[in-house]
Amino acid sequence: LKLGILASGSGSNFEAIAKSIENGQLNAQLQVLIYNNPQAKVVERAAKWNVPAVLYNHRDFNSREELDTQIIHSLQQYSVDWVIMAGWMRIVTPVLIDAFPDKIINIHPSLLPSFRGAKAVEQALAAGVKITGCTVHVVCEEVDTGKILLQAAVPVLANDTVETLHDRIQVQEHRILPQAIALASANLV
Ligand code: GRF
Repeated sequence: LKLGILASGSGSNFEAIAKSIENGQLNAQLQVLIYNNPQAKVVERAAKWNVPAVLYNHRDFNSREELDTQIIHSLQQYSVDWVIMAGWMRIVTPVLIDAFPDKIINIHPSLLPSFRGAKAVEQALAAGVKITGCTVHVVCEEVDTGKILLQAAVPVLANDTVETLHDRIQVQEHRILPQAIALASANLV
């Protein structure tokens, strides 16, 4: 299983995938990291795990489609067969989706279909829900929809801030993202 990771941030999910591979829970290889933000800490994790990293700064592209076209180019160059969006904060277009049909997976910090979009943890807190969580799903054109692969529930505590709640959600993300990759690639979910 040859994985390509798309990430924009700290890369704790990248790290969780790398560890799952190392300890044998996920039978896969990390072929390449693609990131869009020159400051993203995920690039340091890639270096630590000896995974090649390719920067495509979205500001250098005229359209989402042009960015996606370059991403496909790198994914193919590194022989990727499954694409994992591990905190990829760009909207992807049919250009990318059609190049890897049903083989692009995203992790989202809410129990979808509740709280789609980039502010899911804030929205869950503002809504006053008592349970939220995270969802791993197949990527389709409409953001944060697509077949749900795995979910985990996380209680919202009385004194939670966005940060404390997000930290607790991430513990579950790190558990279910590698698991969902294994199950989806084996056609078991
Ligand atoms: C995760 O919470 C993910 O659900 C969201 O972005 C965050 C990425 O975190 N889409 P990290 O960069 O993997 O630490």
